[in-house]
Amino acid sequence: MARLIRLIGGCLFFSLLILAGPGAAGAATLGGKVTDGNGRALSGVYVSAKDLVRKMAVSVLSDAHGRYEIAGLFPSRYRVRVRRIGFQPLTLDGVVVGDSGATRNFRLAASSEIGQQMPANAWLASLPAGPMKSKFLVGCTICHQFGNAATRAPRSAQEWSQLYPKMRQIASLGSENQGYAHLLDDLDPQQLGQWLAANGFGPHAAHHFTAPPAATGAALHAVVTEYDVGGPMAGAHDMAIDPTTGMAWVGDFFPGLLIRINPINNAQKTYQSPVRGGGLHTLQFDRNGILWCTLMLSEMVASFDPKTGQFNIYDHFSRGSATHSFATDAFGYIQYDRHGRLWLSEFMGNAVASLDPKSGQVREYPSPSRVGHPYGIALDSKEHVWYAKYGSNLIDELDPESGRVTEHRMPGADSSPHRITIDAKDRLWTPDDGYSSLVMYDIAKGTFKSYPLPDKDSSPYAARVDGATGRIWVNVPGADAIYRFDPATERFTIFRLPSPVSYTRMVSIDYATGDIWSSLSNLPTGHMGRDHAEVIRLHLAQ
Ligand code: HEC
Repeated sequence: MARLIRLIGGCLFFSLLILAGPGAAGAATLGGKVTDGNGRALSGVYVSAKDLVRKMAVSVLSDAHGRYEIAGLFPSRYRVRVRRIGFQPLTLDGVVVGDSGATRNFRLAASSEIGQQMPANAWLASLPAGPMKSKFLVGCTICHQFGNAATRAPRSAQEWSQLYPKMRQIASLGSENQGYAHLLDDLDPQQLGQWLAANGFGPHAAHHFTAPPAATGAALHAVVTEYDVGGPMAGAHDMAIDPTTGMAWVGDFFPGLLIRINPINNAQKTYQSPVRGGGLHTLQFDRNGILWCTLMLSEMVASFDPKTGQFNIYDHFSRGSATHSFATDAFGYIQYDRHGRLWLSEFMGNAVASLDPKSGQVREYPSPSRVGHPYGIALDSKEHVWYAKYGSNLIDELDPESGRVTEHRMPGADSSPHRITIDAKDRLWTPDDGYSSLVMYDIAKGTFKSYPLPDKDSSPYAARVDGATGRIWVNVPGADAIYRFDPATERFTIFRLPSPVSYTRMVSIDYATGDIWSSLSNLPTGHMGRDHAEVIRLHLAQ
């Protein structure tokens, strides 16, 4: 019989730090003009102002006249960074912005080091297509991208081969069932090493890199705010927006900390989950403002009430199941079925599970095929349960009444579905990691349609339908970008993020503002090349 532990969080949570700030955003503006080495106006340059007191950075793009304006700043000390791929970036420390704002103009010199500046996908795209590449993309990009100095350093064939056992060991997660290790089974270390070295994988390779074109249209009006979270060991996974308060919440994976962030001033409050080391993975709100979390390393689920600070722990999932993602509705909120149950995937358990929050009862439904890992999950209008099997080209459909599972095979042999979303028209959307595309499955028609992403080999991760507009948001960590897809026009709009190695995870939408949120995961710790995790907000000024 299921066991439900109830814990009053009042005595368990503690406040780590509160960066005090007034209740409203600041009123100061930093503005100016960006030109190239010849004094010509330069558009599409990200100018980022980082408030060194509040540890939050606001970035905007320069317009066609080279003008930029960052409004709503607190009077404070700022680090200003000016960056566009193809030009030498500039960083200015200690820029003081007072009540009446400040003006700074910048001149950017052209750079010959484009390869160093390019996002990870540009390097992956330089590798020749074929079976080796497919295995490399699925096996070697699930935990980190190849974006920082350590992962990009040039290596000989032998040095690449020697990395394999180390990665395999990390991938086994010390667990009996070998964690993700089998995703690496198909890779022969010697062949992989020779292939990577022979194809000159690395920034010093003789590949020709072309800087992406400057942003235009809606993308030019992006305002991106980055909120620093935690210290060097912080490892955020997902984040979520509380629909009742607009507060941003993010989990620190290993210590099991829930961190509440005030979007205005990055004031943070930290709550300790009762399960330290539980592996705080997915965070998802229901419509009433209850936050549901999966504790992946301890095969548990927690619900948390931000109003009372109370955690409930549900701990009766199979050992080693690695509780993973929740089914959400067309607005991205936890979906309860007609029996009041919620549904989640078990990444290592090769199953999905229902959880009745009232009784704590759990029921697990195994996937018939042993290939792949249950990942993103969604319920259709008939309450059939659909889930992606990462590392295979299967999407499973479970009828909970009969317990019958139907397998749907994606068209590509190397397809690999990720975190899926369902829209109000019963269409499933999933990134396809194998082909860097967005794939739609129309449940009524039983047909797949694939939309290749403009950035190749870009490790798309999560799809999220915007319930208000019907558009699909896809985060593309390998390209340091978030895409918006409009099903009516079948076109993508690319929003490139201001910072290199922007390893985004789940996307969350704030329907009160229309803002798009995600987290930048520092897991494995430090692979983004910075000493903290981040939560980011994408605001569209137009
Ligand atoms: C299960 C997660 C996981 C998988 C899968 C994985 N890595 Fe890693 N990788 C890590 C972690 C964690 C680190 C950081 C290790 C450290 O700091 O000691 C890392 C670091 C690296 C580095 C930096 C150099 C170093 O020694 O730390 C390279 C290069 C790298 N990985 C390549 C690969 C390749 C190639 C594959 C596929 C064969 C792969 N990784 C698969 C987790 C993974």
